[in-house]
Amino acid sequence: MALRFLLAMTILALAATVQASDPELTTDFFIPNGVNKSSVTGDWFTSTILRNGSNVVPPAKFNAVRITSDSAPVLTGLGVSVALFRYQPGGINPPHTHPRGTEILYVLEGSLTVGLVDTTNQYYTAVLEVGDVFVFPKGLVHYQINFGDKDVLAFISFSSSNPGTVSLPANLFGSGIPDDVLTAAFKVDNNVVDQLQSPFNVTP
Ligand SMILES: *[C@@H]1O[C@H](CO)[C@@H](O)[C@H](O)[C@H]1NC(C)=O
Ligand SMILES: *[C@@H]1O[C@H](CO)[C@@H](O)[C@H](O)[C@H]1NC(C)=O
Repeated sequence: MALRFLLAMTILALAATVQASDPELTTDFFIPNGVNKSSVTGDWFTSTILRNGSNVVPPAKFNAVRITSDSAPVLTGLGVSVALFRYQPGGINPPHTHPRGTEILYVLEGSLTVGLVDTTNQYYTAVLEVGDVFVFPKGLVHYQINFGDKDVLAFISFSSSNPGTVSLPANLFGSGIPDDVLTAAFKVDNNVVDQLQSPFNVTP
């Protein structure tokens, strides 16, 4: 009996491990509860969010327009989403991770510098030109920055309908982690922590 239970648990654990993507749908595509399928049209599968491209609003030098299951619920359970990023000269997408998805970036315009750090703190970097594709494996810290003098436009796809973003500057210094924790963790004075927190209006 105990052995059979153990076997069942092992199989369950394996099944959970094998399912590396979003939860499987049991219908052709996702429809919210209470919506009659006969009312669904082509609009349900269409997103017009990128018609205007990705426009940077000053003083920002970077803008991301994402099509995930939040803005396009039809993506729910399909394991994919996309985004369009624009970087003006000097624009940065600061170090961040996507806990639920691998990212593939394709450069449409300009020259983009990217960086990636793995779980052994090994650092990788590349300078991408138009047509180049770069892979950011799921969960790893990475960034992109435009060191050029022209705009960069990039199309991005993710292996999750909602990959999530943990932006490290905001996560560490804009979330309300107490100052004494941050001074101990980073071995710096309180004024350094205050300076790092200042863009985020955290209340001490
Ligand atoms: C869905 O809509 C169709 C056509 O209007 C109707 O015949 C059907 O009864 C509806 N189904 C439900 C579950 O409301
Ligand atoms: C595109 O921009 C125009 C003008 O700013 C705006 O009226 C329109 O709603 C935008 N369309 C989309 C799909 O965001």
